[in-house]
Amino acid sequence: MTWFPVCRETDVPECDMRLFKVDDINLLVYHLSDGWYATGEICTHQACSLWDDGELEEPEIVCTCHGGAFDIRSGAPTRMPCVIPLETYDTRVVEGQVEIDLP
Ligand code: FES
Repeated sequence: MTWFPVCRETDVPECDMRLFKVDDINLLVYHLSDGWYATGEICTHQACSLWDDGELEEPEIVCTCHGGAFDIRSGAPTRMPCVIPLETYDTRVVEGQVEIDLP
């Protein structure tokens, strides 16, 4: 595992998300009511940005381009027309620093 620091806990309010770039990968980092999660930024349907066109409806990220959605925790598609899972990344918090495990 290779843990990359992404942000401080205080950078993302609870029930919100932010876009970060780590090692040339755009990531959405979510601070949900039960913890921290991270996914890729790009919708697997037709490549809309889930930062620009996504709405956080915990536990889903909804892509407003065509109404598809994904479970943030697993990346699994939850609403059509999305059928391909969204990339997810393990997260942890160490002394206030949010870290992501990148392959
Ligand atoms: S691009 Fe996201 S639902 Fe179509």
